[in-house]
Amino acid sequence: MPFYVRVGKVPPKRHTTFYKDDGKSLYREELFSTQGFSGIYSNKYHMYMPPQVDSIGELAQNNSNEWPDAPLQYYHFKTDSKQTNGDFFSARNEFLKNDHCVISTAHPTEDSEIFYRNSYHHEMIFVHRGEGDFLSEYGRLPFEQWDYIMVPKGTTYQMKFRNYNDAKIFIVESDTPFEIPRHFRNEYGQLKEDAPYYERDFKVPQFMEPIDQLGSFKLILKVSNRTFEYELPHHPFDVVGWDGYLYPYTFNIKEYAPKVGKIHLPPPIHLLFTTEHFVVCNFVPRLFDFHPDAIPAPYYHSNVDSDEVLYYVYGDFMSRSGVQEGSITLHPMGIPHGPQPGKTEASIGKKETDEYAIMIDTFTSLKVTKNVQETMVEDYHHSWLEN
Ligand SMILES: [Fe+2]
Repeated sequence: MPFYVRVGKVPPKRHTTFYKDDGKSLYREELFSTQGFSGIYSNKYHMYMPPQVDSIGELAQNNSNEWPDAPLQYYHFKTDSKQTNGDFFSARNEFLKNDHCVISTAHPTEDSEIFYRNSYHHEMIFVHRGEGDFLSEYGRLPFEQWDYIMVPKGTTYQMKFRNYNDAKIFIVESDTPFEIPRHFRNEYGQLKEDAPYYERDFKVPQFMEPIDQLGSFKLILKVSNRTFEYELPHHPFDVVGWDGYLYPYTFNIKEYAPKVGKIHLPPPIHLLFTTEHFVVCNFVPRLFDFHPDAIPAPYYHSNVDSDEVLYYVYGDFMSRSGVQEGSITLHPMGIPHGPQPGKTEASIGKKETDEYAIMIDTFTSLKVTKNVQETMVEDYHHSWLEN
């Protein structure tokens, strides 16, 4: 995460005594660290010992959604056609995955008291529709429509929507952290003048009174494709204060400041976050190229080293026909793709675009699930044929 944050009560010196109001019992310090003890970290101060657990059980595995003989082809599928009732976790449906990432959507329909921790993947949760509070040990993080909520691996959290009428989230899980691209920062780590966003655009957790409550609290813990249920003897949001660089935060896609050029600029210009195994870009409203003969639509291209996934958020996407909000297209590595018939010509002379979309380019192939098979547009891969 970009900068140091301190919230609530912390002792003046780390790893020293920090007593509760009674003057005798200690708050329990937890170092939440990455890359062993060498990466970014935070120190959290709990009322109770973090490892306490009453019982551990495994939930049934759900590996049945693989579509092993899915053909290598272009896909267009409509994620809004697959809705499962449930809370912010149980409503999730996986569409694409590989050893490093999982791409899902969810239409949460109900609130729940469960706590959730993804112990294997960092999560990027894009709030397509809805608003509410993301609650975690770090405090309250309000979210609104079109926020990305960036959740470090191992964070215990809940999502509370204001209402569940039409809520929708798009989730990308990654086995390595979502990083701010190195070239966006100066030598001191500050975001540079020409970066597409600035520290002020990131929202961090607000202080939430620690909850001093004993009882039985259900924590769902996901480890790769296995899921466990822990019963905790105390409320997990028992943190009186924390500080450091590692915490959940939000960033709204509307804050992204795009770059424009004289002729077509390639996708890296839309870069948002990097991971070791894929990148995240986003397309936002922008002026088109200003050369008098420019073709704003992209040229055909073979991205032979990456599968390209596009999640459509809003607007009429300039290079694709037939996509709608909530659509995903998958253009696998090794086969060329580009604008559909008429889209190149239609873009000539256009001055601007009003589209929002999120792109995930993975460096290893994605597996297509049965949820794709259920929701796909059958003849999408033929849509480049001209009568
Ligand atoms: Fe592409």
